[in-house]
Amino acid sequence: MASLSRGVTVALLGIFLLGAARLPRGAAYEIDLPRGSGITVLLKPGTQALPAKLCYIMAKRWETTLSIKAGEKKVFSFSCQDPHNYFVIEIQKNIDCVSGQCPFGEVHLQPSTSVLPTLNRTFIWDIKASKNVSLELQFSLSRLRQIGPLEDCPDGVTHRISGRVDASTMVKIGTFCGNGTVSRIKMQEGVNLALDLPWFHKRNVSGFSIANRSSIKRLCIIESVFEGEGSATLMSANYPAGFPEDELMTWQFVIPAPLRASVSFLQFNVSNCVKKEERVEYYIPGSTTNPEVFKLEDQQPGNMAGNFNLSLQGCDQDAQNPGILRLQFQVSVQHPQNDSNKTYVVDLSKERTMSLSIEPRLSKLKREFVPGCFVCLNSRTCSTNLTLTAGSKHSISFLCDDLTRLWINAEKTISCLDPRYCHRMRYSLQLPQFIFQLPVQLHDFTWKLLVPKDRLSLALVPAQKLQQHTHERVCNTSFSYLVASAVPGQNLYFGSFCSGGSIEQIQVKENISVTLRTFAPNFQQESAKQDLTVSFIPHFKEESVFTVTPDTKNKIYLRTPNWDRGLPSLASVSWNISVPRNQVACLTFLKERTGVVCQTGRAFMIIQEQRAHAEEIFSLEEEVLPKPSFRYHSFWVNISNCSPMSGKQLDLLFWVSLTPRTTDLTVIVLAVVGGGALLLFALGFIICFVKKNKKKKITKGPAVGIYNGNVNTQMPMQPKKFQKGRKDNDSHVYAVIDDTMVYGHLLQDASGSFHQAEVDTYRPFQGPTGDFPPSPPPTNSRAPTVKLATDEPPPGSPPESESEPYTFSHPKDGKVSNRSTDTPLLDAHEPTEPGE
Ligand SMILES: *[C@@H]1O[C@H](CO)[C@@H](O)[C@H](O)[C@H]1NC(C)=O
Ligand SMILES: *[C@@H]1O[C@H](CO)[C@@H](O)[C@H](O)[C@H]1NC(C)=O
Ligand SMILES: *[C@@H]1O[C@H](CO)[C@@H](O)[C@H](O)[C@H]1NC(C)=O
Ligand SMILES: *[C@@H]1O[C@H](CO)[C@@H](O)[C@H](O)[C@H]1NC(C)=O
Ligand SMILES: *[C@@H]1O[C@H](CO)[C@@H](O)[C@H](O)[C@H]1NC(C)=O
Ligand SMILES: *[C@@H]1O[C@H](CO)[C@@H](O)[C@H](O)[C@H]1NC(C)=O
Ligand SMILES: *[C@@H]1O[C@H](CO)[C@@H](O)[C@H](O)[C@H]1NC(C)=O
Ligand SMILES: *[C@@H]1O[C@H](CO)[C@@H](O)[C@H](O)[C@H]1NC(C)=O
Ligand SMILES: *[C@@H]1O[C@H](CO)[C@@H](O)[C@H](O)[C@H]1NC(C)=O
Ligand SMILES: *[C@@H]1O[C@H](CO)[C@@H](O)[C@H](O)[C@H]1NC(C)=O
Ligand SMILES: *[C@@H]1O[C@H](CO)[C@@H](O)[C@H](O)[C@H]1NC(C)=O
Ligand SMILES: *[C@@H]1O[C@H](CO)[C@@H](O)[C@H](O)[C@H]1NC(C)=O
Repeated sequence: MASLSRGVTVALLGIFLLGAARLPRGAAYEIDLPRGSGITVLLKPGTQALPAKLCYIMAKRWETTLSIKAGEKKVFSFSCQDPHNYFVIEIQKNIDCVSGQCPFGEVHLQPSTSVLPTLNRTFIWDIKASKNVSLELQFSLSRLRQIGPLEDCPDGVTHRISGRVDASTMVKIGTFCGNGTVSRIKMQEGVNLALDLPWFHKRNVSGFSIANRSSIKRLCIIESVFEGEGSATLMSANYPAGFPEDELMTWQFVIPAPLRASVSFLQFNVSNCVKKEERVEYYIPGSTTNPEVFKLEDQQPGNMAGNFNLSLQGCDQDAQNPGILRLQFQVSVQHPQNDSNKTYVVDLSKERTMSLSIEPRLSKLKREFVPGCFVCLNSRTCSTNLTLTAGSKHSISFLCDDLTRLWINAEKTISCLDPRYCHRMRYSLQLPQFIFQLPVQLHDFTWKLLVPKDRLSLALVPAQKLQQHTHERVCNTSFSYLVASAVPGQNLYFGSFCSGGSIEQIQVKENISVTLRTFAPNFQQESAKQDLTVSFIPHFKEESVFTVTPDTKNKIYLRTPNWDRGLPSLASVSWNISVPRNQVACLTFLKERTGVVCQTGRAFMIIQEQRAHAEEIFSLEEEVLPKPSFRYHSFWVNISNCSPMSGKQLDLLFWVSLTPRTTDLTVIVLAVVGGGALLLFALGFIICFVKKNKKKKITKGPAVGIYNGNVNTQMPMQPKKFQKGRKDNDSHVYAVIDDTMVYGHLLQDASGSFHQAEVDTYRPFQGPTGDFPPSPPPTNSRAPTVKLATDEPPPGSPPESESEPYTFSHPKDGKVSNRSTDTPLLDAHEPTEPGE
């Protein structure tokens, strides 16, 4: 038998000697390895082979192993028909990238599988690289799937990849099959890749290529690419043995935008660290706290959108009892459960000055990990905070378990830089419709309204009158307008305003931002009813003017801008408060004193009834604020600040309430005389008390206010005029007063004379005025004063004080009216109807 087959082989050899090709079954093979190829071939019995005695390798002699080195050529055959059951072939190629040229690019199977016997083949590439470069294996034919130590690849094609640490110690990176997610593996200092191809497998290409890369500064990086839903199980190097001491290994994951990834640790062990801590670190797109560091024991992140990476960092282990660090984990990639893969179009192509951000809702920083919540642009780039700019159409989608974790902030700039074009122009501050189509709630929509300095001012007119948000009457609507200065460096907040009040118009001197802030999801319905129109109006000097038209019996609370931070230095603010016919308004100040202490200038308040043109001027320093007072006609409240000392700010809250006007005030007065304060309430009146004072009517003209302007205006009164200390004997006496009551005489009383010239140096109020000729006081206005039995303050008013409200009148002269023509009155002002 043996001699016969040998004879056949020799005969066949003669035929195929030059072909170097695979011979038919039972035929001879020739393997010729070129010199310098670095290839060695080894035929040997397989591990799971049948007893070798049944089959031999027939070369010069009968062998059970055959080794062919580079530069050698060997011809051989097998003594049996089925050598694959007995032998395997191992082809190793050593590549030295340190000294020689590296064969970058696609890796070929050498010698070609067509010349090799049909045995189980193992191609081994052993590549040495210098310490400072890394090698990247790219698996182009099929991405790899890592398998555990006890698993086999279904088709038998297996990649066993290992690397080196310190040139000597081999580290197993992992065993991989085809049909997975691993697309690239980068290793430092060289790589050893063994590719097992079973004898029956038709594959004749390696399926990978090599590239050189700069240092990765770690053991390896394994990249996994997901193209759809799926999962990958990955293991730390050397698994199930221990991860090399103090090493770093990274996995990168490429996740397409509509999908989300979650990491779970299937198995892990930690070693006994002497120095450093074993941990995993994530880079999650959009996370502001990257790298996100976790212990292996922690719940790992889930619901991540976009590409992320995960690194395992070992530690310096205890030499006596090192323990073992190992990790097997799974990355699951799936569609977000809810219809978050829906695409929304945000069309800003027609906008020029609008930007829209979708941001994480502010929430307290929590210790535990929360799943990612992302906005994706064009289904590609996902981030936690996306800003869309004007001029183009954006297609966005959301990757978020709970869209209430996001909100929208948008900003639009409306500027008028040429007063000729936009004077009296109107613009409606309405939300664009697409805002309501997005699944994320609007938080803030800010309009920046810009006007040329000292040329134009702005008027905001709501479709429905507004209410100012105060502690006393909070806005509990679904949205509010926040009005603030947009002048850089000017920290001025005019207030928060919601529908359902009495403010008809807000005029502001210069650049402002108006922010529609939402508080409840139903704001859409409510905001549809509201509309805010801005118009560009002639410039005026006060910071703001509020036009208030009460039509309710509710108290109207009004507050100086900036809340408790105080009115800015030298700022002046006015309220134009209409008093409807047949109604009487009661004006009440919350505090008894303002508490302002001026560094320079004077802070004062002017109350002027427009019809009477009577002014009451109060110093706001040291003096008490006016007691509650009745106003029969529309009136102005003007507050002008000085340069206050820090911590001694000017901050005023007052309210206005209306009651039907009674023709006979003496009834009230008699009631007071007869029954005391409680009886007043039985009569159903809101009674205002003021300290009894002599009164003086000013009928001199329409000047209604004063302001400090931007300059360091000094109140041209001697300070002593505002000093308290005038102890009136009847300071405890209260009276019901009428609308014509003013206090001009007190100024004269205090200073001894009335300095009209000084008064005139005030710059007049230049805002809209109730420009009506002064009218005589009502005939019944001279209500007698009444002495009360006690100093009991009326309910709701601040406690009584010893001091007097010092006020002075501000007579009007011709000069003032001349000046007021210099600055045009605001057209928006609607004159209030005369009271009688
Ligand atoms: C060849 O590979 C197959 C599948 O991987 C295996 O079942 C068989 O035992 C191997 N043959 C030898 C001789 O090792
Ligand atoms: C890498 O190191 C070798 C010597 O070990 C040096 O010649 C080479 O310039 C280095 N390359 C880089 C990119 O640093
Ligand atoms: C890849 O895996 C899928 C599902 O596990 C299987 O249907 C397919 O046949 C596999 N392909 C190859 C080439 O192994
Ligand atoms: C691999 O085999 C295919 C046919 O099965 C052939 O077209 C291709 O050229 C072969 N490639 C190599 C490198 O031998
Ligand atoms: C890769 O190798 C080539 C040629 O050896 C070299 O020019 C190139 O700089 C290397 N690239 C990196 C990233 O090391
Ligand atoms: C590894 O950790 C598991 C629990 O996760 C534990 O049961 C096992 O004993 C640990 N193995 C070693 C070698 O520490
Ligand atoms: C991980 O991701 C971050 C952010 O994308 C990147 O800066 C970093 O280089 C990545 N690290 C690795 C090792 O891939
Ligand atoms: C989908 O979202 C709704 C609310 O938006 C929520 O109640 C539901 O639980 C979510 N379903 C899943 C599978 O996340
Ligand atoms: C989300 O994507 C999946 C898979 O592509 C699709 O079946 C589903 O209909 C999509 N849902 C929506 C709301 O678009
Ligand atoms: C989102 O980005 C915008 C613009 O870059 C920035 O102003 C805003 O503070 C960011 N928001 C968060 C929550 O990071
Ligand atoms: C308001 O904004 C415009 C446009 O940016 C600018 O020209 C003007 O000076 C600003 N006004 C103030 C008072 O800063
Ligand atoms: C606030 O809401 C309550 C009940 O919803 C309502 O009675 C009240 O009038 C509201 N107040 C304001 C100021 O809107």
